[in-house]
Amino acid sequence: MLDQFLAETSELIEAAMDRWIAREPINFLTPLFDSMRYSVLSGGKRLRPALVLMVSKALGLSNESVLPAACAIEMIHTYSLIHDDLPAMDNDDLRRGKPTNHKVFGEATAILAGDALLTMAFQAMTDCPLPDRSVIAMIRELAVASGASGMVGGQVADMLEEGKPVEENRVLFIHRHKTGALIRAAVLMPAHAAQVDDDTMQRLSTYGESIGLAFQIMDDVLDVVGDTVTLGKVAGMDAKLQKATYPALYGVEDSLQMVNQLTEVAIGAIEDAKGLNPSKALLIELANYLRNRNH
Ligand code: IPE
Ligand code: IPE
Ligand code: MG
Ligand code: MG
Ligand code: MG
Repeated sequence: MLDQFLAETSELIEAAMDRWIAREPINFLTPLFDSMRYSVLSGGKRLRPALVLMVSKALGLSNESVLPAACAIEMIHTYSLIHDDLPAMDNDDLRRGKPTNHKVFGEATAILAGDALLTMAFQAMTDCPLPDRSVIAMIRELAVASGASGMVGGQVADMLEEGKPVEENRVLFIHRHKTGALIRAAVLMPAHAAQVDDDTMQRLSTYGESIGLAFQIMDDVLDVVGDTVTLGKVAGMDAKLQKATYPALYGVEDSLQMVNQLTEVAIGAIEDAKGLNPSKALLIELANYLRNRNH
């Protein structure tokens, strides 16, 4: 069931983003649009849009009503990856199994393609065919999760902690912000769309936060135990850059145990949620899939 859902999500999202990032008629802007399309249409697990669609399904919303939000969050995620790979940040050469954006298009275009994707995301949000009140709440959720108090803040903390002894509270802050925030927003945007009750909001928030943190811990673990071909990005870079990671602090075994604990918390929050329909089983399946992933 999950495999099929993820495959269908990828197809839907890719077709929609292909339309969103159509090439500009101004042909001397072709490098910008080529650069945006290169990263957005280069695969990836599409986890965040899948979460948007999955939670929507469990709340009885149609795909159409949240498709722009699902694309928007993938645009922001992709921009964060393009910038994350730049020489000034993680200086990576491989992403989603291909040379990184700046390797192909140059740093200036990569920076601007990221900027354009971030901006296009908020343009896309205004296309959600939902009541204004819902759309405003969704935009706010996405903005808070993406900016200084969310992903960007986490990325800054990640850079500031590079090369320093890893501190427990700092690495928790980094992971919750650089990765957890956007994953939680993917879960909460549909909750705003459906204007759910407080209990459902709280449960979805716990789910998003828990799988979000677990996801980045697993990303750190895979950087240690994974291989470059399967990951589609060069393994072992975190140790090289002396990044603040969970394996650096606790070792691989204990980090995996934390992933399992967080997954159980996430599943518990969903199992007991009365405000979700039986499609919530997919959210449980997804949490289990993520703890066993190898890329
Ligand atoms: C990678 O995210 C960066 C993190 C936030 C951990 P993903 O593992 O979701 O990357 P893609 O989208 O599948 O390439
Ligand atoms: C990246 O964390 C998080 C964001 C891009 C916001 P990492 O630097 O660990 O991601 P990868 O390992 O390069 O995908
Ligand atoms: Mg990074
Ligand atoms: Mg990186
Ligand atoms: Mg990583």
